[in-house]
Amino acid sequence: MLLEVKDIGVTYTSKEKEVKALDGVSFKVESGDFFSIVGPSGCGKTTILKIIAGLINSTNGEILKPEDFEVGYVFQEHNLLEWRNVIDNVILPLEIKGVAKEESYKKAKKLLKLIDLKEFENVYPKDLSGGMKQRVAIARALICEPEVLLMDEPFGALDEPTRLKLNTELNRIWRKTKKTVIFVTHNVSEAVFLSNKVAILTKRPGKIKKILKIDLPEERNLKLLDSEKFIKLVLKIRKNLEYFKEK
Ligand SMILES: Nc1ncnc2c1ncn2[C@@H]1O[C@H](COP(=O)(O)OP(=O)(O)OP(=O)(O)O)[C@@H](O)[C@H]1O
Ligand SMILES: [Mg+2]
Repeated sequence: MLLEVKDIGVTYTSKEKEVKALDGVSFKVESGDFFSIVGPSGCGKTTILKIIAGLINSTNGEILKPEDFEVGYVFQEHNLLEWRNVIDNVILPLEIKGVAKEESYKKAKKLLKLIDLKEFENVYPKDLSGGMKQRVAIARALICEPEVLLMDEPFGALDEPTRLKLNTELNRIWRKTKKTVIFVTHNVSEAVFLSNKVAILTKRPGKIKKILKIDLPEERNLKLLDSEKFIKLVLKIRKNLEYFKEK
């Protein structure tokens, strides 16, 4: 086991009010998992990623993780720096760590090959499509060789064909790098397509409603979307989501 989230609760406190975002959330992530988290808007998905990344502390509970645990974070918006070209965006985390330029560029070039943007290393973000920018953000998240890649709705802003293409690419990258991925999405079909486990959260305060194993071969392709097995899994998750239930 790589990571255990144990009975996590988070209450945000501001001047006017308290918001209980998460309540008693527990799950385990094994090394090499593609672990997706789905749930209604505002149920605490981003909060879970922030706690795992160490960006915020939980109010209750604990996270068990290796001592020198490092994560790569891909945000919903790509967050690329407009004044830096592709390769200089990718090396940014290494630059912050003080790694020598030559070594950084060598690593970045390998990653640009992996995400199929080798020809674009000198291009600036404004001249890239939305999907390309997200690929650059993925390369930037991978450059420190993190144990875990945290992805928060990385393809949410993309059109459907681009999203499907990037889903297939992400599946290839996951198989090739054997990275552990924790992936947040609104899109149930996307979660099933990419994952070997899907955690379903309840409405806020988020609790784990169910964790489903996705028993499909590791290599996923677009034909899968039409298969009966795939559609059944999507329906099973939809039934467990409380999108339309009133309190
Ligand atoms: N810094 C904060 N201060 C106060 N409340 C917050 C803060 N961050 C998040 N919240 C609240 O906590 C709850 C969970 O937020 P979170 O962003 O984790 O949800 P989410 O599941 O990622 O939602 P979405 O799917 O819309 O991105 C929401 O009600 C949100 O308003
Ligand atoms: Mg969110």
